[in-house]
Amino acid sequence: MRNVLFLVASLSIVWTSCSSPETHTTDAVGDLMSKMSLDEKVGEMTQLTISQLLEGDKDEYLMPQRGDSTKLYDALVNHHVGSILNVESHDYTVEQWTALHKLIASISSLKPNKIPVLYGIDAIHGTNYTKGATLYPHQIGQAAAWDTVMAKTIGEQTAIETRISGIPWAFSPVLDVARDPRWPRFWETYGESTVLASWMGASYTKGMQGTEAEIDDNHIAVSLKHFLGYSASITGKDRTQAWIAERQLRRYYLPTFAAAIDAGAKTVMINSGDINGIPVHANKVILTDILRGELGFEGLAVTDWADIHYLFNRHRVAKDYKDAVAMAINAGIDMSMVPDDLDFPRLLKECVEEGLVPMSRINESVRRILQVKMDLGLFKGNVKPDLALFNCDEHKATALKAAQNSLVLLKNNHVLPLKKTPMVTGPTANSLIPLNGGWSHSWQGDNPGLANTGKARTIAEAMEARGATYYSSGEDINVWAPTGRLSMASLEGETVVIAFGEWSYCEGVGDIEDMFLPAAQYEMIKNIKERGATVVGVITAGRPRNIRDVENYFDALLYAPMPGDFGGEAIAGALFGEFNPSGKLPFTYPRQPSSHVTFDHRVADAMGVAAGTSGDKGTASFRPQFEFGHGLSYTTWSVTSTLAYVKVNKELVVNVTISNTGNMAGKQTVPVYYEDLVASIVPSVKNLCAFAQVDLAPGEKAVIELHIPRERFALVDVSNKWVVEPGDMKLMVGEEVHDFVIK
Ligand code: BGC
Repeated sequence: MRNVLFLVASLSIVWTSCSSPETHTTDAVGDLMSKMSLDEKVGEMTQLTISQLLEGDKDEYLMPQRGDSTKLYDALVNHHVGSILNVESHDYTVEQWTALHKLIASISSLKPNKIPVLYGIDAIHGTNYTKGATLYPHQIGQAAAWDTVMAKTIGEQTAIETRISGIPWAFSPVLDVARDPRWPRFWETYGESTVLASWMGASYTKGMQGTEAEIDDNHIAVSLKHFLGYSASITGKDRTQAWIAERQLRRYYLPTFAAAIDAGAKTVMINSGDINGIPVHANKVILTDILRGELGFEGLAVTDWADIHYLFNRHRVAKDYKDAVAMAINAGIDMSMVPDDLDFPRLLKECVEEGLVPMSRINESVRRILQVKMDLGLFKGNVKPDLALFNCDEHKATALKAAQNSLVLLKNNHVLPLKKTPMVTGPTANSLIPLNGGWSHSWQGDNPGLANTGKARTIAEAMEARGATYYSSGEDINVWAPTGRLSMASLEGETVVIAFGEWSYCEGVGDIEDMFLPAAQYEMIKNIKERGATVVGVITAGRPRNIRDVENYFDALLYAPMPGDFGGEAIAGALFGEFNPSGKLPFTYPRQPSSHVTFDHRVADAMGVAAGTSGDKGTASFRPQFEFGHGLSYTTWSVTSTLAYVKVNKELVVNVTISNTGNMAGKQTVPVYYEDLVASIVPSVKNLCAFAQVDLAPGEKAVIELHIPRERFALVDVSNKWVVEPGDMKLMVGEEVHDFVIK
C-alpha cells in the first residue's frame, strides 16, 4: 500500500483533484449522495486533527511536520474522513501548507466519490498558524476600536491569507458575549455588549465569507462559536456549568449568532459546556429547535474538541461512547471534531444499523456538509488566491491601524503625549507574546522561539527606536528585579513607562483564582513611583485584571487589548503622540475583585448596602474602575445632540454634532444609550442602541444623523418573546439626556 501512495504523492497530479460533480446546486449534492454508501456518509461527518496524520514524532515544537501518506490513506480512503483540522504544536510556512494540501488532495482523489477534504483552522486574529502571516488585534482589541468596517476588512484579509495557506474554513469569529471578566476566553470576544458584539460579528462574517452563497477564491467559510451560552459559566472558568434562564439566553447570548447567521454564516461550532445541567452537545432544543427552527440556519454544525467523547467521560450523561454518539447526532450535530480516533464513524454506523439514529438524520447532516464543500468550490479543485497578497503592505497597514485604534487611554494627568524621553521597563515590555496572546504560532502562543516570525517590534524595541532606553525588570510577570538606571535610589525627574499585565494563555490554561495580577507587578509600580518617577502604565491584558491598589500611582495609563504584531509600534506611537489614541472600553473595568457589574445592569444591582428606600439611582455600588465606553483623547471634544422627533413609530432619528475643540486631530466614538423607564421586565439603566464615530481635524465639526430602528428598543418579555413596549424612554448621548416616547 505504501508504494502506491508514494507514487500518488510523487506524481503530485491531483492538486486540482476531482471531476464530479461540477455544479453547485442542491441537486448536485443529492446526486452525489445517491452514490454514497453509509460508510462514506458517516466518514463525511468525521473530523480528525492533523496531529494523527503526520509523519514521525509529532511532539517536537520546532521540527518540520509532513503529512503521512499511509495514515492519510487510511483515514481518507479507508474511513472516508471528511474533514481535518489545525496543526500540531506550531505554525507552518505557506510552502509546508501547500505540500500538505497537495498530498491530502491527491489521496482524496482516490476516495470512491473523490469527495474533497474540508480543512478547518483556528484563524483567530489573522492566519495565526501560518508563519509570517499578518497578525491583527484579537477580537477584544477590534471591539475597542468600535469599528465595524475595520472588522470587515480584517475578516477579508484573514480570508485571503488563509486561502493562500490552502485552507477554506476558519473557526472564527467568537460570538460569545463576555460578561464575566474572570473568564479566560474574554479576549477572544467582542466584549460585554451583545449589541456591539452583534454589529462586529456580522460585519466580520461578511468580510471573511463574502456575501454570496458561493464563496469565491478570496473568501472562506466562517464558524460562529461557541453556540450557545459558552461564556456564562458561573465559576468563571472554561467549560464549566452555566445556568441561564431562557429570557437571559435570548436577550444576551442568542442575538450575536442570529445577526451573523443573517449575514450568511455557513457553519457554527457548539459550546463545550452545559446549560442548566444539559451539555449543549446533547441539547436538541438548542441545536435543532433554536438553531434550525428559529434562526433558520441551514449550514453545518461542528462539535468542539472531543465533545461527543465528553458526553460520557466528562459530563456523564451518556453511558458509553456509542450512547454519546447517538445522543449528539440526534440532538443535531452534523460533524464531530473527534479529533483523534476512528471510533466515531464506526459507532455512528452501528447506531444507524441498530435504529438508534435515523438515516434521515445522517442524510440531513451529510447534505449540509457537502453543500458547504460545494459552496466553497472545493469540487472545482485549484483555488487561486493571489500569493502576492500574503502579509502584503496593505494587510500590514490594516494591522497597524487596527492596533492603533484598539488602544484605550484610561487616564492622563497631562503626561501624554510624552514630553520627555522615558525609560521603559516591565515584564511585558520586551516580548511579542503578551501582545499576541493565545492562537499565535501555537495554541498557547507562548513559545519564544516561534513568537517573532513576523519580525515585529516589542514595546521596548519600538520605544528604543524613538530614543527611549529599556531596562529589564526581570522579564517575568512574577518578578520585580530592576536593572541599570532603573535601580537608582532616586528616579526624581524621570519618566518611566511600565508595561505590565498578563502573559499569553488560551482556554482553560488561562483560568484564574482571583482578579489580581502577581504581587511583584504592584510592587514594581509602587516602588518606581515612590522613588519619584512620573509613571506611565501600559496594561497588556486580555481581561480587566485588578489595578485598584495601584491606579493612583499612574500619571497616565494606556490599555493595550491584545493588539497583535503591531502592538509595540502602536503603543510607542501613541505614547509619543504620533497619533491620537481613540479606543473605548468594550467592557466595564471592575474596581473590586468581587464586584462585576455590567454597564447594562438594573437599578437594584447597584443600590449598595447603604442605599435608602428611594432606590432611584442604581449607582451607589456601581463604581467600576473605568466604565464601558470609557476612553480619553489627546484633544478635547464637544458633543451635542437633538432628536428629530420624540414619538417613535418606526425609527428614532438623532443628530449628533461632534466637534474637535482641541489642538490635535483625532477619532471620537459616541455611544448612544437608552433607558426604558417602565417595562414589564425589570429594565436596565442603560442599553446600547447606536454609536456615532468621526475622524476630525482640530476645529472641525461633523453632524451624524443616526437612524435607530424601533426594534432596537425591544426587550424579551415574560413569554420570552422580543417585543417593543410602548412607553416613556430616555436617550443618553454623551452628557445629554433626551426624553422620547415609544408609540
Ligand atoms: C476550542 C475551539 C477551537 C477548537 C479547535 C477548542 O478547544 O474551544 O475554540 O476552535 O478547539 O482548535
